[in-house]
Amino acid sequence: MRRLEGKVALVTGGASRPGIGFAIAKRLAEEGAQVILTDVDTSGVEESAAMIREMNLSATAMRQDVSLQADWDQVIERILTDFGRIDILVNNAGILDVGEIDSDGAVAGLKRQLSVNVEGVFMGTQAAVKAMRAASQGGSIVNISSVAGKVGFRGSASYAATKGAVKLMTKSVALETAAEGIRVNSVHPGIIRTNMAAEGLEENADNYAAIEAVIPMGRLGEPEDIANCVLFLASDEAGYVTGAEFVVDGGYIAQ
Ligand SMILES: NC(=O)c1ccc[n+]([C@@H]2O[C@H](COP(=O)([O-])OP(=O)(O)OC[C@H]3O[C@@H](n4cnc5c(N)ncnc54)[C@H](O)[C@@H]3O)[C@@H](O)[C@H]2O)c1
Repeated sequence: MRRLEGKVALVTGGASRPGIGFAIAKRLAEEGAQVILTDVDTSGVEESAAMIREMNLSATAMRQDVSLQADWDQVIERILTDFGRIDILVNNAGILDVGEIDSDGAVAGLKRQLSVNVEGVFMGTQAAVKAMRAASQGGSIVNISSVAGKVGFRGSASYAATKGAVKLMTKSVALETAAEGIRVNSVHPGIIRTNMAAEGLEENADNYAAIEAVIPMGRLGEPEDIANCVLFLASDEAGYVTGAEFVVDGGYIAQ
């Protein structure tokens, strides 16, 4: 039997390819989950879902801006109507604004990131907890933070503020829901080869080589590296795991 047979999973930010959300959605679907992918990029998320369906797996696309309460209400209601339950939520959608503390537009960038990376994850977690509680069948919520939510990086003060917030909101909610079997954990990717990383590194081969030189495993992460960790947390194999942080970074911040 596949590891997520019979489960219904929502993954936000599933349009980007290569992207962490798409890789997670594909991996969960491979293990038998019925996956719903959402994104602000309507055509991109439709294509992602179609690609997963082409593998004879279950995937549905919905448009959602995670920073809007109304979109959360609508998406959760539609999932409950169409699929009858929600077992797994992966709060993956996120944005990155690079710039030192005194750069132009730093405060505006902070506010943009707070609305998606913090308010979006908060509202999503709240919506999932309510639905999971109502069903009394437990559940797993996985919040995608970052290594920037654990240690400092120059030029990442605002992004780090949002990813650190994700780490600690995760633990607090985990305490509130542990007795009901609703597990809440955070995943902290290192530098993963996606569209976001390409923008951050401006697709410059020298920048990639410089990063690889400081990663103990000698390579950037692939979206599938994150997807495999999320799969474990989403599955019943992680039944005794909650409020925990999972760093997936090739040893980068162990130094
Ligand atoms: N790539 C990395 O190196 C890295 C490292 C650490 C953490 N992360 C985190 O992993 C997650 C995924 O990152 P990625 O590299 O795949 O990024 P990406 O930019 O490639 O993809 C992010 C997706 O989120 C969507 N999105 C953005 N704002 C949204 C909104 N308001 N509502 C719904 N969808 C929205 C985008 O349209 C896009 O499809 C993010 O939370 C990111 O912060 C990435």
